[in-house]
Amino acid sequence: MNKEKNGQAPTLSLQDVRAGYDIGEVLHGITLRVGRGERVCMLGRNGAGKTTTLRAIMGLLPQRAGRIEVNGNDVGKWPAHRIARSGVGYVPEERRIFPTLTVRENLTLALAARSQRNGPSLDDVFSLFPNLATLQRARGGNLSGGEQQMLTIARGLMTAPGLLLLDEPTEGLAPVVVADLQRALEQIVTTDVAVLLTEQKVDFALSLCDRAYVLDRGEIRFEGPAGELRNNERVLDEYLAVGAAQRG
Ligand SMILES: Nc1ncnc2c1ncn2[C@@H]1O[C@H](COP(=O)(O)OP(=O)(O)OP(=O)(O)O)[C@@H](O)[C@H]1O
Ligand SMILES: [Mg+2]
Repeated sequence: MNKEKNGQAPTLSLQDVRAGYDIGEVLHGITLRVGRGERVCMLGRNGAGKTTTLRAIMGLLPQRAGRIEVNGNDVGKWPAHRIARSGVGYVPEERRIFPTLTVRENLTLALAARSQRNGPSLDDVFSLFPNLATLQRARGGNLSGGEQQMLTIARGLMTAPGLLLLDEPTEGLAPVVVADLQRALEQIVTTDVAVLLTEQKVDFALSLCDRAYVLDRGEIRFEGPAGELRNNERVLDEYLAVGAAQRG
């Protein structure tokens, strides 16, 4: 077991994880950790391996080698539903809402998947996402893309996870919706939920997170405090291809 300084295991720890698809290995030895209540981002270009890393954590890939621990438990052989039950919420890139159910029904369904008894109430979640409160009787399928994204994140939170994995939460969202989402996520991260999020919007991720990893072709190229990465022009240019003008 991989202990933190205070004797508690970190919320998430990956050690030299190698994984991929039938086409071959995509992750060539990923080592990362998320401490209790910590906010960590994983940045990288298209195809760097961000989604694959999250899928490996969720047990959605045949893990090839390495070790994945959640709260000190080796989850390498656990099926996805057991990992979810142990307190890992996963909001995948593709928004999986129930289109024929209302917003409210989509959220209450998540209660059944709760990993622990106490967690946010519907009202808590509506105060984080006021738009959803107004839309609670609307059918999921009629929501805009941004609203559906809010709903999937809200649903992830309703499962009362100790760790929330968010895969590019801002993808395809208009700037004004990104700002709404940022406000909601800032409030989430003041609770004791640890967050691991992947992003291509570097400024968004760094303003939200304590620590960052940069992934390139299935390998970690940088690890450090968010503020350090913000000033590291070499890493930003080389692996994220964001000149100052493009960051956002
Ligand atoms: N289901 C799959 N089967 C085969 N190869 C895949 C599969 N999913 C992803 N890959 C490959 O694995 C590599 C990493 O993909 P991944 O989806 O993890 O990247 P990503 O960092 O999430 O990119 P993006 O920012 O575009 O979402 C890519 O080369 C991709 O083509
Ligand atoms: Mg991806």
